[in-house]
Amino acid sequence: MRVPDLIQKKRDGGQHTAEELRFLVQGYVDGQVPDYQVAAWLMAVFFKGMTAEETTHLTLAMAESGDMLDLSSLPHTVDKHSTGGVGDKTSLVLAPMLAALGLTVAKMSGRGLAHTGGTIDKLESIPGWSPVLSDEAFLNQAKEIGLSLVGQSKNLAPADGLLYALRDVTATVDCLPLIASSIMSKKLAAGAKTIVLDVKVGSGAFMKTLEDGQKLAEAMVNIGKLSGRNVRAVLTDMETPLGFMTGNTLEVLEAISTLQGQGPEDLRELCLALAKETLLAEGYSEAEAESRPRAVLQDGSALAKLKAFVASQGGDPRYIDDPSLFYVAEDKAEILAEQSGFVAHIEALKVGQALLVLGGGRETKGEAIDHSVGIELLKKIGDAVQAGEPIARIYHNQKGKDAAVQLVKEAVRVDSEKPAEVGLILGRVG
Ligand code: URA
Repeated sequence: MRVPDLIQKKRDGGQHTAEELRFLVQGYVDGQVPDYQVAAWLMAVFFKGMTAEETTHLTLAMAESGDMLDLSSLPHTVDKHSTGGVGDKTSLVLAPMLAALGLTVAKMSGRGLAHTGGTIDKLESIPGWSPVLSDEAFLNQAKEIGLSLVGQSKNLAPADGLLYALRDVTATVDCLPLIASSIMSKKLAAGAKTIVLDVKVGSGAFMKTLEDGQKLAEAMVNIGKLSGRNVRAVLTDMETPLGFMTGNTLEVLEAISTLQGQGPEDLRELCLALAKETLLAEGYSEAEAESRPRAVLQDGSALAKLKAFVASQGGDPRYIDDPSLFYVAEDKAEILAEQSGFVAHIEALKVGQALLVLGGGRETKGEAIDHSVGIELLKKIGDAVQAGEPIARIYHNQKGKDAAVQLVKEAVRVDSEKPAEVGLILGRVG
């Protein structure tokens, strides 16, 4: 097999075999195939696309390029993945809910990416909590508590790390089969039998339109089916931030409040919808899938799981019992409504960018972040406001304050007419 022939085949619209894709992916990981050939091939894929079968073969080749976690000793393994959003603290609520429902969440999560946050960064707001566990401790904790969550290991789908970095600099990121295989290779390697995907759509997401989101969801569910996993996807709105809080510590506080049976309506609705989808995938009836997740939020069992999980990974459990212990930046700036009317729009992308300039996300690889800063929305879309009334509050430590105020001002639009309601759940696949 010769790489130039494979590039030519894709350039001319041909369909690759599993062997060809394995040869290319493994050759790249082993250092036998140079960047320039893979870059040319990526661009050919960008223009010519891939069939569902090819996308699955590519995903499997990427998943098998490193460790494949064996979770077969654990019962009912489930995983959840969000394609990334602003204020998206869903995993912090959903993972303990699923554990309280008797399922096993043995999960790898990421850090923030561009303007979107990451679960590991959020959990590190809890003093002492560590994203590092030995393989043995990871499995034992999952067995005992039903929940262990660690950072991505370097050897999980290493082909994705290499390809992602190359795509980033060759204008081949926004290519559906490449995104689908990138996400699913990590999920397949991470070992869970059931995978529920939260595909975000809107200004704050990588998929800007419902049509593209739907296609991505279908591609990922298809990969799951063809590779023997139980995969479902929910399409959800990311035009506007989820909940009221954006920022690492602020989001942990909002997640705890939701696990206490309070919290914002949209976050609660999303967590219930994803928990329902997971239970349906696990064979529960519609009625059970509807009622059981509500019960674990009400009876405190999901909150108890969060506390046990935090303590088991070195975190201080007193912070879960008494969230007032968390340190939140003390300096505050308020954004006031310039006119009376209704909040018509709050653009997620700008709020995400505001967090970045405050130091709550990274601009360069490996940079330390400030967990204490963030943005609290005081109004949501559709709420009435009076001129001069606060719409949002920024918690800052001086860094980037003026730029963040400007971004949040630009993010919010007030109109004289009440906007039509847009649902949070936009569709389902699987
Ligand atoms: N997230 C990923 O993991 N990969 C992509 O290609 C896009 C988003």
